[in-house]
Amino acid sequence: MKLRIFRKSGAVESTPFFSDQDRKNLWWFWQNYLKKRMVWLFLVLGLILLQGIVYQQFLRLTENGLRVIFDQGAVGDLVQVCAVVFGLFFVRGITSYVIPRTSTWLASGAVMELRRDLIKHLLVLDLAYFERSSPSEIILRVVTQAQDLSTFVGQTTINAVRDAVTVIIVSGYLIYKSPQLFLTAIVIAPIILLVLRYVSNSIKAVQRSAQNALGEYMNTLEETVNGMRTVKISNQERFEEARLSKTNTEIRDLQVRLQSAQAIVLPAIDFASAFAYALVIGLGGYMAISPNYDLDGAAIITFMLGMVMVFDPMRSLSKFFTTLQTRLIQLESVHEVLRNKPTIVDAPGASGDLDAAADITLQNVTFSYSPDTPLFKELDLTFEGGQRTAIVGATGSGKTTVLSLLGRLYEVEGGKVCIGETNIRDIRISTLRQAFSVVAQDIVIFNAPIWDNIKYVRPEATDEEIWAAAEAAEIADLIRSRGNTPLGPKGAQLSGGQKQRIAIARAFLRSAPILLLDEATSALDQRTEEKVKRALHRLSAGKTTIIVAHRLSAIVDVDKIYVLDHGRVVETGTHDELLELGGLYAGMYTTQKGEYR
Ligand SMILES: Nc1ncnc2c1ncn2[C@@H]1O[C@H](COP(=O)(O)OP(=O)(O)OP(=O)(O)O)[C@@H](O)[C@H]1O
Ligand SMILES: [Mg+2]
Repeated sequence: MKLRIFRKSGAVESTPFFSDQDRKNLWWFWQNYLKKRMVWLFLVLGLILLQGIVYQQFLRLTENGLRVIFDQGAVGDLVQVCAVVFGLFFVRGITSYVIPRTSTWLASGAVMELRRDLIKHLLVLDLAYFERSSPSEIILRVVTQAQDLSTFVGQTTINAVRDAVTVIIVSGYLIYKSPQLFLTAIVIAPIILLVLRYVSNSIKAVQRSAQNALGEYMNTLEETVNGMRTVKISNQERFEEARLSKTNTEIRDLQVRLQSAQAIVLPAIDFASAFAYALVIGLGGYMAISPNYDLDGAAIITFMLGMVMVFDPMRSLSKFFTTLQTRLIQLESVHEVLRNKPTIVDAPGASGDLDAAADITLQNVTFSYSPDTPLFKELDLTFEGGQRTAIVGATGSGKTTVLSLLGRLYEVEGGKVCIGETNIRDIRISTLRQAFSVVAQDIVIFNAPIWDNIKYVRPEATDEEIWAAAEAAEIADLIRSRGNTPLGPKGAQLSGGQKQRIAIARAFLRSAPILLLDEATSALDQRTEEKVKRALHRLSAGKTTIIVAHRLSAIVDVDKIYVLDHGRVVETGTHDELLELGGLYAGMYTTQKGEYR
């Protein structure tokens, strides 16, 4: 098992403890989150030094105490030694309380800021980022890994620094007491370093896979839970179980591998310690017996006590190095989120003004979601200010995409989108989006009461305004009957038509100058649709309105209709003109009419 780890890690011979990227990540963390806490960090460091000195003093006093005993000295001296030792440990007790408290406080603060930055950053990232990354991956980074980092900085690292200081101070004292004995004691240290290096590389490789596996597990779980309706109706419980259990097993295997990589470290240290003790007892004993050396029994015993005091923190330190490798991977994965830069941002000097009543035009627009499947090429569309324009066309022809481009959810690759004379790139994003009320095709409902779901689009709205919007969207009765009950995750406790009516109520409440309706009434029964449509008609009066509809009867009275086909405009005109034309639209209309008759 262990051999496999080493082989898998691949880069064992060349990778140092820190890769270049690790160094950059650490530097970034220091600069952004720790540097401003430097004073406090120095305080902690000072206390840690104090602790180290306490250890050294303890050793010195112990040696004196032993000498009093061995040489049958005065009892008074012994009492004095005892009192001072007690005092030293009292100081140590206080530092043991203050250090972790301060450091945890520091680290929690740093990681809170990190989390805040992550959230802030996530909210400005392009929509496309969220279409690439799974929510669970994001949750893993913002919640779990950030928390792990906090513990690591606040406790693990501080303990490691304390251990390192103890090792250095006590070792210094031991060197001072007897350089020969000290050299004997650490003769095996290079081997330990090699083991550590070997292990840390393996851990890095395994940790990366373990992290991916965990992300995948969370992702699959989320998909299964979200899609439970489809899972059940398609009888795929077994499949989901197998899928989850596969990742579950993978996680276990990786954990075992991680553990077995780490497991080599402590035995190696113990083995080295045993070796060192044996050598020191042998050589020290000889030195004590031989008249050529200036060392007595008390000195040898103290030296060995000092070794105990060094080896224990060394043990923890080496464990720290193995943990460090896993945390470095996590640091990279958290930092990676922040390195993703949004592309849709305010241009320098972007305008906070917008003539929302002006014509909206797509001029020569080229756009694709991915380079290998171009969608729009040199597309020209004009939505006249204050008028109703419809876009129709087969599924996948690009209707929703046109609406997304207007709100700059994606950036055009060529050409431009203008409102009046102004390119929307020169308008502040918040100003631009403020101008739209949208009933989208995929409606997002939050797990909150209907009331809050409607209010979401305009939090400052009055109760009267919300009621009016709800009445217009025919959802007021449902508010009265459901009251304050939350709607379940993603509004799972609502019917499709009810969700749609909430979305419509939002558009009423928002009442922005530009209205985008993407299949807004497709899920309503005919009677409700008629009512809602009349209300929407009133709402759209005087507003630039763009309606996407498959049911052509819904758009017969609009001012202009664009017929899209595979990202191109194939027909333009009013309903009557297009019927006259006898093309694609006329064909679609006749088919639908035949179905409804
Ligand atoms: N976020 C996305 N990432 C990649 N491709 C996308 C994305 N959204 C849509 N597409 C693709 O772009 C094309 C146009 O999609 P769009 O949603 O604009 O079609 P539509 O005309 O609104 O269709 P429908 O009538 O089914 O709603 C489709 O081929 C679709 O697969
Ligand atoms: Mg669509």
